[in-house]
Amino acid sequence: MATLQDIVSLAKRRGFIYPGSEIYGGMAGFYDYGPLGNELKFNIKQSWWRNMVQMRDDVVGISAAIIMNPKAWEASGHVGTFSDEMFKTSVGRTENDSSVAYLRPETAGGIFVNFKNVLDSMHLKLPFGIAQIGKAFRNEINPRDFIFRTREFEQMELEYFVRPGDDEKAFDKWVKERVAWYKSIGLKNIREHEQPPEERAHYSKATIDIEYEFPFGWQEIEGIANRGNFDLTAHQKASVKDLAYFDEETKEKYLPYVIEPSAGVERIMLAVLCDAYTEEDDRVVLKLHPTLAPYKVAVFPLLANKEKLIAKAESIRDALKKRWMTAWDDRGNIGKRYRSQDEVGTPFCVTIDFDSLEQNDVTVRDRDTMEQKRVAASDLEAYLAERLTS
Ligand code: GAP
Repeated sequence: MATLQDIVSLAKRRGFIYPGSEIYGGMAGFYDYGPLGNELKFNIKQSWWRNMVQMRDDVVGISAAIIMNPKAWEASGHVGTFSDEMFKTSVGRTENDSSVAYLRPETAGGIFVNFKNVLDSMHLKLPFGIAQIGKAFRNEINPRDFIFRTREFEQMELEYFVRPGDDEKAFDKWVKERVAWYKSIGLKNIREHEQPPEERAHYSKATIDIEYEFPFGWQEIEGIANRGNFDLTAHQKASVKDLAYFDEETKEKYLPYVIEPSAGVERIMLAVLCDAYTEEDDRVVLKLHPTLAPYKVAVFPLLANKEKLIAKAESIRDALKKRWMTAWDDRGNIGKRYRSQDEVGTPFCVTIDFDSLEQNDVTVRDRDTMEQKRVAASDLEAYLAERLTS
């Protein structure tokens, strides 16, 4: 199993994760994401969005402002209740009591305050969900374990609204759905942990955490909570706006209950990196699921100084680029280039050699099996597509 140090050093060396503002000595709890880390994060978010919004008929997505009217955080219990200091800022030219605002500590708030807007503009019927991906900020006293606990991070949250009474069934269903998603992106070493009442957030009737076995032990990567109607009740009271749902079937008006699967992008990223990190005889390989790999394919001309090889390799790369993130490498020998792509998890490498010029074919090398196969240039896209989407 990888140590945290293995991951930290690979992440920095290969452009996944850098300490925030490093040239000024860093800033505790903040990290910057390099070219490969940015792609990996993007792929995690895209897979989540596809699974939670695109592929479902009962979920829509929004993107709310990070800074909200502070009354929203008083209503939700974040200001005045939590022992954690949150992030304060000031809005407007003069700083005084009425200019105080907060960077959001969770994305959920933006969903609850827009419940009625989304309901009315999208003509939704229960059960339905509103999803959001976005930044959240917490002034954590003890940021730790690399990107596991930071002060700025991204959340992927769904608020799934149901009729009161249907919440327990929906809760169980969402736990299963979320575990299935982690399996679909290839994550091993996960388990469910039911939080006892004393561990739960103030709004939660029940919470199950999905935990991953990190090098520093089993830790939460996602929480699935039954928030009841805590939030809509609190916002209805504080805003003095009617947030009730009219149920056309039962002709009743009520505040729906809500189930919330809430995951952190960086924690999933760290879990995915730990899970994928593999040391073999003479190589380090990130066995990332193809959906998550930053580059899907790398293209190599056998030699860097042969015009015909370069031209052919460029034309092949240009075609692949339209569909996938690709890498290009013409330095050193092919063995070194393979090792370099293995270390960042690129599933396939394509080499163009002198035979390619004659036969119009390429060598495709598989990251995991290290097998090499000659494939006709005209079949290359279909060959890769079949293997990258399985
Ligand atoms: N809306 C519910 C909520 O925010 P949470 O358990 O506090 O619940 C949900 O956070 C997820 O957000 C966690 O499972 C974790 O993945 C991520 N998260 C929370 N605090 C974090 C931090 N300081 N650094 C990185 N990720 C964090």
